[in-house]
Amino acid sequence: MEHSVDSCPLLNVRLNTVNSFVNQVNKGLSDGKINKKNLIWLELNGCSGNIISLLNGGNPGFGYLITDMVNLYYNNSLMAAEGEQAIDQLLSIINTNYILAVEGAVSAGENGAFHNIGRWRGNLLTDPQVIKLFAEKASHVIAVGACAVHGGFSAARPNPTGCAGVESFIDRKVINLPGCPCHPDWFTGTLAYILLYGEPPLDSRNRPMMFYSATVHDRCTRRAFFDQGVFATSLGEKTCMFKLGCRGPVTPADCPYRKWNQYVNWPVEDDSPCIGCAQFGFPDAMEPFITYENTQGE
Ligand code: SF4
Ligand code: F3S
Repeated sequence: MEHSVDSCPLLNVRLNTVNSFVNQVNKGLSDGKINKKNLIWLELNGCSGNIISLLNGGNPGFGYLITDMVNLYYNNSLMAAEGEQAIDQLLSIINTNYILAVEGAVSAGENGAFHNIGRWRGNLLTDPQVIKLFAEKASHVIAVGACAVHGGFSAARPNPTGCAGVESFIDRKVINLPGCPCHPDWFTGTLAYILLYGEPPLDSRNRPMMFYSATVHDRCTRRAFFDQGVFATSLGEKTCMFKLGCRGPVTPADCPYRKWNQYVNWPVEDDSPCIGCAQFGFPDAMEPFITYENTQGE
């Protein structure tokens, strides 16, 4: 039987961290002690899975985030404006105090011809151009999800579009929130922390320690099986999936107690090994789930 983490006070405190930050932001805004900031959310080369993940957040919900915590000025999927009007809206905040969030990889192949955010005055605004322009003046830059952090699926072999993570294109610190997708709490908690205190404590790869300081394995509900050497031999067995390739021992993320889809479940609890979606190098480096052994020419 799996252990439950729901009754552990330490883990409950961690789970409530985001809520506590958001409540402090709420109070700070109403007391006039902190200012609402502008937020730009750029969608570069990716699947839009991170904004969808954020829309599914419940702690707080997305509506609260964009109306009470920040002014969301630009997001390709959600805004009403389109075409040049949308780009005008984006450009209008460049001299304001804003935070830049980026999802998707920066596509630089063929001078940025594979992906752009639109046209302005007849010219394409390519990913490398737009990231340089807006990262330079942002108070903080947050890379949201695997593609923005290190290229992710967008940069998977053979990477014809020349995709890479945001960090490769700009000469300043990027707060990295890897995951495929990014958990809504990882983004909302980071944003709330920035509004309250500025940059959160980061690890050596610029991931916020509050979410990425322990591995999945450290807190896994099947850890007791690992420690006793009881391993599953096929999917569906309720024991440790280490011998099925679980990447939990080398993947820093708090999935076991944060859980997904508004805290309902997470991969291991649903009999899937962790495939390392929050690890640098995902997906190409995630054997046995990805292998290029039988491919030719690459
Ligand atoms: Fe859990 Fe995977 Fe670690 Fe086993 S190897 S305890 S399933 S994280
Ligand atoms: Fe991803 Fe592993 Fe968590 S696959 S969702 S980092 S358990």
